[in-house]
Amino acid sequence: MCGIVGYVGEQSASGIIIEGLRRMEYRGYDSAGIAMISEGSIVSDKKAGKLANLVDSLAENPLPKAQIGIGHTRWATHGPPNDVNAHPHLGQQRRVAVVHNGIIENFTTLREELESDNADLISETDTEIAAHLLERTVAETGDLTTAMQQVCRRLEGAFTLVAIDANDPERVVAARRNSPLVVGLGQGENFLGSDVAAFIEHTRDALELAQDQVVTITRDSVEVTDFDGTPATGKQYYVDWDLSAAEKGGYDWFMRKEIFEQPEVISDALLGRHTPEGTLQLDEVRISEGELRDVDRIVVIGCGTAHYAGLVAKYAIEHWTRIPCEVELAHEFRYRDPILTRNTLVVAISQSGETADTLMAIRYARQQRAKVLAICNTNGSTIPRESDAVIYTHAGPEIAVASTKGLITQLIACYVLGLYLAQVRGTLYGDEIANTISALGQMPDKVQAVLDDAETVYQLARDHIDASSILFLGRHAGYPVALEGALKLKELAYIHAEGFAAGELKHGPIALIKEGLPVFCVVPPKGRDQLHDKMISAIQEIRARGAKTIVLAEAGDDSVKPFADELIELPVVPTILQPVVALIPLQLFACELATLLGNDVDQPRNLAKSVTVE
Ligand code: G6P
Repeated sequence: MCGIVGYVGEQSASGIIIEGLRRMEYRGYDSAGIAMISEGSIVSDKKAGKLANLVDSLAENPLPKAQIGIGHTRWATHGPPNDVNAHPHLGQQRRVAVVHNGIIENFTTLREELESDNADLISETDTEIAAHLLERTVAETGDLTTAMQQVCRRLEGAFTLVAIDANDPERVVAARRNSPLVVGLGQGENFLGSDVAAFIEHTRDALELAQDQVVTITRDSVEVTDFDGTPATGKQYYVDWDLSAAEKGGYDWFMRKEIFEQPEVISDALLGRHTPEGTLQLDEVRISEGELRDVDRIVVIGCGTAHYAGLVAKYAIEHWTRIPCEVELAHEFRYRDPILTRNTLVVAISQSGETADTLMAIRYARQQRAKVLAICNTNGSTIPRESDAVIYTHAGPEIAVASTKGLITQLIACYVLGLYLAQVRGTLYGDEIANTISALGQMPDKVQAVLDDAETVYQLARDHIDASSILFLGRHAGYPVALEGALKLKELAYIHAEGFAAGELKHGPIALIKEGLPVFCVVPPKGRDQLHDKMISAIQEIRARGAKTIVLAEAGDDSVKPFADELIELPVVPTILQPVVALIPLQLFACELATLLGNDVDQPRNLAKSVTVE
């Protein structure tokens, strides 16, 4: 949700900023802009729409050379996505330029105050307020760092601000509250970014900032303070993925690349989690075994796809641990006064670690003295830092807005957590845990087998290019798979799609069934006879009413064949792990159908990957 880049060094700032924005564009693509300092003046350009529009504009009217600057790619909150509302925003004297991610909640009051003091505000954004305030304050203090500290003390809400001052061509000053910001540490140059992808090409040494901190970078120094000016230190870390992970590597879309990376990232997510004998070891869980034994309730929270990972987790965790487990959307959980005790374990699932709804929910949970365990992909992000424990999913950078490998590794982490809790609490025998770990260890090969048959799914997509509505049915752990299959289609193909629990069909959704309506049906493995047979009954019911059934069932399940207009065979896996293989064809289908429809698969309309506003 808005990508931010800052640079000061010896290289051409515009090249570095545009490249950084290219890698940040997944965060928002409503507009893009750049501001730099050249010969004591701010030079700037900004354009509505994707970064390509800004690049074209700069090619036509190049900005003067500069070695310091800031850039922004926007996901609109205040004001429509046009050139005027695009960032950077400048103060009235064009002395200060600012980019911003987040929402300044007291912006109306501040705007009125500025307008009554003759400020000429030209955009509808909250950001322009910050630019004016900073410029006025820097005119008084003469120092951008001090001005940033003072202004931040007046702002409410969530924000990352990055600013430059035309009178001070040596420094970029940034601040963060509840929105992401990392520093890239170079030699004779330093960087700022919403995440490390902004500067990964130039350095892998990064500095993580805490909440309510201001950072000032020059070519040779990085200084951190809190909003009161008290010196502070960031936490330095090394980014262990390389540039190729942030490139498409020959694929047409990041999403397709990320789908095909799933066998590898499942292995990575399992790496080091268990001994050869199958005993689990989780070193990032800083909650004692005694505390885990005392847990009497688990609440899993997340948003979007991460919420669906939670729905799968519930089936596994309750089955293996017998601890009651609820799953809730983080934003619903946060504002309904949920009952939490010190024996509640809240599991927060977030690929980015920055989703504001989830962040606010974990803060609330910790205030109520619940323990919070994060399942997260992004090292150094806010949610794991503010949690009592974290299981990193090790999926590597996920650039496509729609989550694929992020989700699959979240599932792996949830399984590992469930098994670990079962081990600690003695609710499963050692050999049962070892068997499931062994089944998880086979998942990379099973997923690869599904991917090897991608062409079957692509053909299905070609056959459904004219579909205006597609339904998804599942039962048990296949129910969240159905929900995710529908979400992926909505996100990418912009067509009506719904996921239903197959048992619920007869209570209403069956009214939607009509001649030729495509319905994906996720059939549980045959081992679970009751579930399997009831799913087959549901398929028969919709087929009798004219639906076109696209059945996902395990290989060798001949009983489904008479009722399947199309059949996608899945590898044989335990029921509870089936989502790992069943999700893959649905990801491929949505990716391919959206490609055929001419949609931008990596950057679907209106969406952003990391939603840092509530
Ligand atoms: C956005 C993205 C979704 C993602 C959700 C949660 O809505 O478009 O793909 O699932 O945020 O993101 P998180 O980073 O918390 O997993």
